[in-house]
Amino acid sequence: MRKPIIAGNWKMNKTPAEAAALVNELKPLVADAQCDVVVCVPAVDIAAVKEAAAGSNIKVGAQNVHWAASGAYTGELSADMLVAAGVEYVVIGHSERRQYFGETDQTVNQRVLAAVNAGLKAILCVGEMKDVREAGATDGLVDYQTIMALNGLTAEQVAEVIIAYEPVWAIGTGLTATDEQANETIGVIRKAIARKYGQECADKVRIQYGGSMNPKNVKGLMAQPEIDGGLIGGASLKAADFSLVVNYDK
Ligand code: PGA
Repeated sequence: MRKPIIAGNWKMNKTPAEAAALVNELKPLVADAQCDVVVCVPAVDIAAVKEAAAGSNIKVGAQNVHWAASGAYTGELSADMLVAAGVEYVVIGHSERRQYFGETDQTVNQRVLAAVNAGLKAILCVGEMKDVREAGATDGLVDYQTIMALNGLTAEQVAEVIIAYEPVWAIGTGLTATDEQANETIGVIRKAIARKYGQECADKVRIQYGGSMNPKNVKGLMAQPEIDGGLIGGASLKAADFSLVVNYDK
């Protein structure tokens, strides 16, 4: 049995003070959660969120990581820096980084390797644009993105990676994949992992759905057998909404 994992992706929202306030409000609301609870926050919020989340079941994640250990990479953060700051999870290859910041399958792979080798849990994002789905090329694309991003990891390491399947057309749009669409494409991702790393590994990997997941649609999505959690953008910015998603089983 895979333990579900619900992660908030705050994107470029919340100052440190606002971040601490949100976590303080969230703590009692998610204290009895049966799933893993993570908030992936802007780098400047990490310290405030770590302090606010101390002693609670809320784990802290970052939103990106560089592949080098150190050096002339203005604006970037190394995996060791994140670990030293108390970060446990890191989002890698989010579609917004692929679309707006030139992230490629190759750089996503380098970032995943650096994160995993430093002991971080990678939340690897894959997913298709609207035209890809309309052309019937979704399965091939998510298979390719997954295999390329994980290249160089052992099966044991892959089993610990969290994958977020996020159809790009569903992010921030209010459109969600149907429960069945999300389940089917996540099944395709799991098959790709089984083909390369074996069924045992594929059975362990937790694969989330992301894209306008909210208190209203979470139950239906989480009832699907392949869906092991969610990566939540908009609905993670309010404690009441995020806690309803986290407590989808109550
Ligand atoms: P959304 O974002 O929930 O606002 O659609 C999800 C994501 O981009 O991770």
